[in-house]
Amino acid sequence: MESDSSYVLWECCRFTFLLISTVFKVFYYTLKTLVLKIFPRREKSVADDVILITGGGRGIGRQMALTFSKLRPKHIILWGRKEEPLQKTREDVQSHGVSCSYFVCDVCDRELVYKTGEEIKNSIGDVTILVNNAGIFNGALVLNDTEENIQKTFAINALAHIWAYKAFVPGMISQGRGHIVTISSMLGIMSLRGASSYCGSKFMTTGISEALHLELQEYPKIHLTSVHSYQVQNDMFQDLKLRFPWLIPPLSEEYVAKATVRAVLCNEKIIMMPRIMYMLVPCLSIFPAKAMAPLFRFLGVDSALDSLLVQKQKKE
Ligand SMILES: NC(=O)c1ccc[n+]([C@@H]2O[C@H](COP(=O)([O-])OP(=O)(O)OC[C@H]3O[C@@H](n4cnc5c(N)ncnc54)[C@H](OP(=O)(O)O)[C@@H]3O)[C@@H](O)[C@H]2O)c1
Repeated sequence: MESDSSYVLWECCRFTFLLISTVFKVFYYTLKTLVLKIFPRREKSVADDVILITGGGRGIGRQMALTFSKLRPKHIILWGRKEEPLQKTREDVQSHGVSCSYFVCDVCDRELVYKTGEEIKNSIGDVTILVNNAGIFNGALVLNDTEENIQKTFAINALAHIWAYKAFVPGMISQGRGHIVTISSMLGIMSLRGASSYCGSKFMTTGISEALHLELQEYPKIHLTSVHSYQVQNDMFQDLKLRFPWLIPPLSEEYVAKATVRAVLCNEKIIMMPRIMYMLVPCLSIFPAKAMAPLFRFLGVDSALDSLLVQKQKKE
């Protein structure tokens, strides 16, 4: 009887101690994150880094290669399916005096990703900054989406990230340092009518990179950054039309690339662009979906892809 009560007392003390220390840690890390958001952190150097950017030949990937090249990393590697844009970006990176190579590599081809990864390790060295950027978008309603498009979108936008992790994260672990960048999207946090495969694939990358972050906690010098950008001024979302485009104008590729590189230099875990998204996203959890619907209707979010969907229907 006495041993029972001393056990209960011991459990109560243990519980209270763990609870107090947990609450303390929650406040400490919240405060630390807030302070680091307000006061700029010291940016790290990438002088010893080998940076690999998938989809580095054009679009945001190309801009990231150019932005990184100004920081004089050890080497930049570009991946893509088409040789011409890769060649052009390599020349532009090299014009900044940075060594650069490219590989024609379809990120969906798992065996090719592993083989090219091995080739890079043997000829250039371990990749220490991996930017999973390659992506595609083909709008369609869930029930009209073709099996081919669904599989392709998930293969490029999500599964390919895992093949790249498998190819390059062991090298980061053996080096004891590294950085994994996931180019997701605002559509990896909130959904859009007519973009189910794209949203699904981007939500998937958010989940995978968060799980990887938890699994790599014993390696404090391996960082992860998840990038969630709103519409960018290029071809990918050219058919997306909001009601008042001037309210939140599309971002430039240069802006997204610069913000991403800065997030890497500051080891930021997640960034959203533009900043107003930091206010919009919490609203999605605070307010009921029915209350957000009129706002989305007012902004034209619910019908943003309608012209694309109608065009597609006409073609079919
Ligand atoms: N544009 C936007 O509004 C927007 C907004 C938020 C997030 N994002 C995300 O940002 C990333 C870059 O998009 P972007 O705007 O720069 O689009 P983009 O101009 O269409 O570029 C896409 C890049 O991905 C590469 N790629 C596509 N499929 C590939 C494959 N199977 N294997 C290897 N490379 C492949 C392309 O290279 P090749 O053609 O040579 O293969 C190209 O370099 C994507 O993940 C996208 O989802 C874009």
